[in-house]
Amino acid sequence: MSCRIRVLCDNSAGPISGTLGEHGFALLIERDGESILFDTGGGQTLLHNAQRMNLDLRRVEQVVLSHGHYDHAGGLWPLLQSCGPKRVLAHPGVFARRYSLREGVHKSIGVPYSEDFLVGIGASFSYSDSFREVAPGIFLTGEVPRLTGFEEGDAGLFCDMTGCHRDRVPDDQSLVIVTSKGLLLLLGCCHAGVVNTVEHARLKTGVDELYGVIGGCHLAFSGQEQIEATVQALRRYKVKKICAGHCTGFDAAARLAREFPGGFRPAYVGYTMEFE
Ligand SMILES: [Fe+2]
Ligand SMILES: [Fe+2]
Repeated sequence: MSCRIRVLCDNSAGPISGTLGEHGFALLIERDGESILFDTGGGQTLLHNAQRMNLDLRRVEQVVLSHGHYDHAGGLWPLLQSCGPKRVLAHPGVFARRYSLREGVHKSIGVPYSEDFLVGIGASFSYSDSFREVAPGIFLTGEVPRLTGFEEGDAGLFCDMTGCHRDRVPDDQSLVIVTSKGLLLLLGCCHAGVVNTVEHARLKTGVDELYGVIGGCHLAFSGQEQIEATVQALRRYKVKKICAGHCTGFDAAARLAREFPGGFRPAYVGYTMEFE
């Protein structure tokens, strides 16, 4: 069964003329006439890029939210307004208030709409914090146990304006596709950590082989120790494809490109991956 994944939103735009980048991420999964949207970007580029790429988002049956940050959920409003009602899969904590504090600047970074507003314009939410099947062979991780010692999360994220309570983004989840070559992980920001997420996906699916990862690896705010440990773990998994974008960060992306020559690709807008 062939499957195609396209990057619709990312911080960087690729060579498709007229597509735009924004701080955010979204992927479109197409398989046998079925379309699933994983995240929606920040809201500025989803519909525009889909149009430039000749993609009809009215055909999307399900939207999966990786977590409740504006740069992944901001496209819900334009999507629902323009493309009709959608089933939206998310963690029950997705609408929590959340903030970032970087270089002394506080910013509200949660979902920029209320649940009632989104329901009013056609969202039908399905909440779960558990591993579940979204379509045959495509799974949503649910909450990911934080087990590795080196994936400590982003110290700049908080549940409150005062910066007293750290937000470990418990609602962060990833999609897992079981391919003929092993697991393919679709990451939003991957606040849970790439290695925690891979371990959880292996445990839940019973598949050990890791074919690839695509998306945001959230290493832009990590120290060298986490980048190093992540590289070593990916080597141990014998990963074949690393398509990193969004919050992976320049240093980590450069390191991954150097460590996995031939296997690394930047996940810019328009990047397309096809597999069986
Ligand atoms: Fe993000
Ligand atoms: Fe995030």
